[in-house]
This record gives sequence, C-alpha cells and structure tokens, in this order.
Amino acid sequence: MTYEKLIEKAYESMAFSYSPYSNFKVGAALLTKSGRVYTGCNIEIASFGATNCAERTAIFKAISEGEKEFVAIAVTSSSRDFTYPCGICRQVIVEFAKDIDIIVAKEYDYEVYKIEELLPKSFTQIDIK
Ligand code: THU
Repeated sequence: MTYEKLIEKAYESMAFSYSPYSNFKVGAALLTKSGRVYTGCNIEIASFGATNCAERTAIFKAISEGEKEFVAIAVTSSSRDFTYPCGICRQVIVEFAKDIDIIVAKEYDYEVYKIEELLPKSFTQIDIK
C-alpha cells in the first residue's frame, strides 16, 4: 500500500464525516503491518466534548478488532491547509502506535512526521511505573 493510496482512503472516509456543528470534515486511514486499512471520520456530538476525531475513530476501530502493529496513519480534511492531529489524538497515537509515520495530506501534497516531533517529551505508560 503506497502512502498515496492510504491518503486516498482517508479522503474517501471524509464522506462519512458527521460534522453538523463545525462543517469541518476530517478523514483518517490507518495502515497495519499486515496490510489492512482501518478508516475513520470525525463524529461530532451536540455536547461538544463527546466529539471523536477521525484519527481516534480509525485507531479505536483497529484496537477493538485486535490489531496491535501499525505502519502509518494518513489524515485529510476539508480545509485547504494541512490538518495536524489534535493533542488528544497525539496522546492516543503515542499510546498505541508510537513508531508510525503520521502523514498529513492536502490534495496531492503531504508531509510525514514521527510522534516525537508532534508530541515531544510525552507522558506514557513508562511514567506511571
Ligand atoms: N478534528 C479531527 O477529526 N481531527 C483532528 O486532529 C483535529 C480536529 C475534528 C474534530 C471536530 O469534529 C472538527 O475537526 C473541528 O474541530
């Protein structure tokens, strides 16, 4: 699976975005080591704090189906600019997929990051022990 194809899948999942409050559509596509792709969109709730971002939708779908090893996540949105994962999603990525490539895309242009760049000096499981 090329990163271009993964980005395409993230764009496709934006069709399912439930975002009546912000009208801001986000899509994500998470690639597992075995080659499966879990997609996700943002899902907004009238009590805004209950909203789920596209990245977390994709990651939680994968985790809930027993997936443990990941390669990359692509993130797309209806904005003309790049949409970077929010703070909560960064914390979720560091929990479940700390080695992955984080692909932030707009149309045919994309940037690739590691979580250490987006969430340096993070608080993780090690800190609790
Ligand atoms: N959103 C995401 O889905 N992912 C992000 O990383 C940033 C924000 C969503 C949440 C909400 O539905 C909308 O974008 C506006 O904040």
